[in-house]
Amino acid sequence: MSSFRARVDLAFLRQCKAQGRKFAMLTAYDHPTAVAAQAAGVQALLVGDSMGAVILGHPNTRSVPLSLMITLAEAVRRGAPSIYLVGDMPFEAMSAGNEAVIRAALRFRDEAGCDAVKLETAAQHDALVGKLSRAGIETIAHLGLRPQSVLSADGYKAQARDEITIAELVADARRMESAGAAMLLLEAVPAEAAAAVVGAVRVPVIGCGAGPSCDGHVVVTHDLLGWSIGRPPRFVPVLAALGETVRGAMAEYVRRITEGVYPGPEHVYPMRAAAATT
Ligand code: KIV
Repeated sequence: MSSFRARVDLAFLRQCKAQGRKFAMLTAYDHPTAVAAQAAGVQALLVGDSMGAVILGHPNTRSVPLSLMITLAEAVRRGAPSIYLVGDMPFEAMSAGNEAVIRAALRFRDEAGCDAVKLETAAQHDALVGKLSRAGIETIAHLGLRPQSVLSADGYKAQARDEITIAELVADARRMESAGAAMLLLEAVPAEAAAAVVGAVRVPVIGCGAGPSCDGHVVVTHDLLGWSIGRPPRFVPVLAALGETVRGAMAEYVRRITEGVYPGPEHVYPMRAAAATT
């Protein structure tokens, strides 16, 4: 386990790219996950709107309140003071216009201590990315599969799977870079599409199911740990079985109570010693 003592910033992530060193990003929505990620040497954390499905039990990511995301981002920052922290722009702000997005970005930065915000971007968002960057806010443009567009005809599926749509993706990536995006994030695109984007831009590119050529990679922590409901996407390395462990521990707790084994003598508070009498 390696732990990053110096604070990870954009300059560090750019340096990683320049030196061909890949960086690791995970999602985090709570303090203990943030503490574990920092101790494990994770370089970046995303307070993702995936929390809508993962911890709130909604069918998609569109109904996560901004205020909840700010509160949880604050908790994550307290647990991981050195990590590059990214706040995900929720649909609530994205659907309320550019000024709402800028206000939300300032809240992520000033209230929660985020280093950057991530926006699910289409071509028309270049003006917004430009405004954010001129306001001094590091912005990550999320391209490829964009979960907030789950209700559109294109749906929730892998993107840029032929030459025409790869060319469109590369054009969008260049547009976001020119507008001032500090980094790009590509979700659910073929390795060939990601390689074309990485070759076309200078900013670091984070992959989420986008093959090996990306400069860093992100997955949902609950998927990584075997702690999500349902099957994780094919690109996730499932490295633990937390769901099984937790279910086993809870079943054991139930057994101990029903069989009268818990609480035992070691779990009770002793009475104070009686006061000495003369
Ligand atoms: O909300 C999220 O967790 C994300 C990642 C999966 C990229 O956007």
